[in-house]
Amino acid sequence: MSIGLEADGAAADAGSGAPIPSVDVAPETQPVAWRHRHLLDVDGLSAADLDLVMRTTDAMREVLARPIAKVPALRGRQVTILFYEASTRTRVSFEVAARNLSADVVNIAAASSSVAKGESLIDTVRTVEALGAQLLVLRHAVSGAPYLAAEVFGGSVLNGGDGWHAHPTQALLDLYTMRERLPGGSLAGRKVVILGDVLHSRVARSNIWTLTAAGADLWLCGPATLLRGFEAWAGRGAAAGRRFHVTTSVDEALRDADVVMALRIQRERMAAGLLPSLREYAARYGLTRERLALAQPGALVMHPGPMNEGVEIAADVAAGAQSVITDQVTNGVAVRMALLYLLAGTHRGEVA
Ligand code: CP
Repeated sequence: MSIGLEADGAAADAGSGAPIPSVDVAPETQPVAWRHRHLLDVDGLSAADLDLVMRTTDAMREVLARPIAKVPALRGRQVTILFYEASTRTRVSFEVAARNLSADVVNIAAASSSVAKGESLIDTVRTVEALGAQLLVLRHAVSGAPYLAAEVFGGSVLNGGDGWHAHPTQALLDLYTMRERLPGGSLAGRKVVILGDVLHSRVARSNIWTLTAAGADLWLCGPATLLRGFEAWAGRGAAAGRRFHVTTSVDEALRDADVVMALRIQRERMAAGLLPSLREYAARYGLTRERLALAQPGALVMHPGPMNEGVEIAADVAAGAQSVITDQVTNGVAVRMALLYLLAGTHRGEVA
């Protein structure tokens, strides 16, 4: 787990020239230039890796447009989805993605498993492997839990969100959606704002890596109590050539923005005293139509979900013409198909 931004800011839009896999067939039969056994975060992904994920997602989108949106690529593989925290989008889209690839899918909700009797994460991971798991999708409330799982699991671990730390598949589907919807298909020089509860957000932490790697001019905005520590990160990012700013001024952040991503106020993680009240937060930082008018005409409105409408985002903005929130959800299936495919193709090499 790295928190620096020492890597160079090479633009992911540049393209690597690596061949796009034929996703109709098993990945191990393809010359796929993917070397990561696990997907634990996006900080270890190069510009070429990001480009390969984007282009493999394009191929999966083509599969999803077919009358029968299914390929046999992962036939005979078992994908186990082990979630210790609530989820709708990530859990369901991983399940749909795995089924579209013809994998066998096992879904485990920790609350109804032997975890409720005190079984450890390590014992649970060993147990699901003994039951045939080859690709393990893990969500956990504790930051770093997928790294521990990866130490004992013989297959590939995909992080479905861990604590405040990382949500790599969300960041990759956000990147894909921006590239798809921004004119010209590039983030280079585009002003992207992440607005809200940055402190508790694994989505923000992973997006910082991918968006700055793609050349975006990234702005984090929220109350000072929800930005703690990010000024130092932005300073290191700027020193490494990344465009990364932190501000408490919503007007400064939103002015001329190309993309505005609102983040959920995470009431379940909110220590007492970080916000005077949700009402005050909504009044000062909520994404309303009036505030959105500061951004570029047609600026994209995003939200990783789940939303607190009327708090961090007004209902009419969330459902408005500029919103691509449902596109994010839909693209989540294709991006997760791409990642399952790429990871299934290699169980050797570098561990990300
Ligand atoms: N964005 C996201 O992770 O949503 P879920 O919690 O519904 O999976």
